[in-house]
Amino acid sequence: MKLIKVKNYEDMSEKVAEMIIEKIRKTSKLNLGLATGGTPKGTYKKLVEAYEKKMISFQQVTTFNLDEYVGLAPNDPNSYHYYMNKSLFDHVDIQPSNTNIPNGVARDLMEECVQYDYLIKKSGGIDLQILGIGQNGHIGFNEPGTSFDSGTHIVKLDDSTINANARYFNRLQDVPTHAITMGIQSILQSKEIILMVSGEEKSNALQRLLNGEVTEEFPASALKNHPNVYIIADEKALSSVF
Ligand code: F6R
Repeated sequence: MKLIKVKNYEDMSEKVAEMIIEKIRKTSKLNLGLATGGTPKGTYKKLVEAYEKKMISFQQVTTFNLDEYVGLAPNDPNSYHYYMNKSLFDHVDIQPSNTNIPNGVARDLMEECVQYDYLIKKSGGIDLQILGIGQNGHIGFNEPGTSFDSGTHIVKLDDSTINANARYFNRLQDVPTHAITMGIQSILQSKEIILMVSGEEKSNALQRLLNGEVTEEFPASALKNHPNVYIIADEKALSSVF
């Protein structure tokens, strides 16, 4: 894992946007893995700005999102489909048919999981995967205890994850209890991975990732088994790292 230190959220967003832009320019057909949540929002804003300045095009980009809540339809404002449309897809020239997000309202969720991994494989695999990290070390929605061999699957969300994500919902009881997520193995099959870490509330997780052991009890530690991982972390996230 290569650690790149940046000052703050703004600089992290800028740095990761630059890395994605460079990748888009260098790769004729790029398969880009995307995350949602607060962490990559600034990066998506920078990508939209770069598109508006005609610095990049997404015509040759195919995206695969990590996860989606079970039970939320794509037009639900709390769904990750909606988040991606509003944060990025609606503002750039990506072909809608080239955007892929697990379907949280699929009639057969198990089949949806199998098909999602198959789709990634059929497309040639993910070239660059963007990740955030949960305070409990989750990546995607792979909560502590998830097998490192897991493909896309259905998870029951940890209480800590439900509480952390409640800020986006009107009431705690509106937060879905389950999600569909790419598995640890699906993530590790990406050719390159960028993990973004910002803020003091992530500092314990980052400290454990950098100095702790590789264990399924701390899902992000699986990244240590991957040859090509960049961690872009800001000063607050690094505040507990010794
Ligand atoms: C989102 C995802 C999650 C988030 C993580 C951090 O697609 O896969 O693993 O990256 O929960 O969330 P934020 O960025 O909101 O702190």
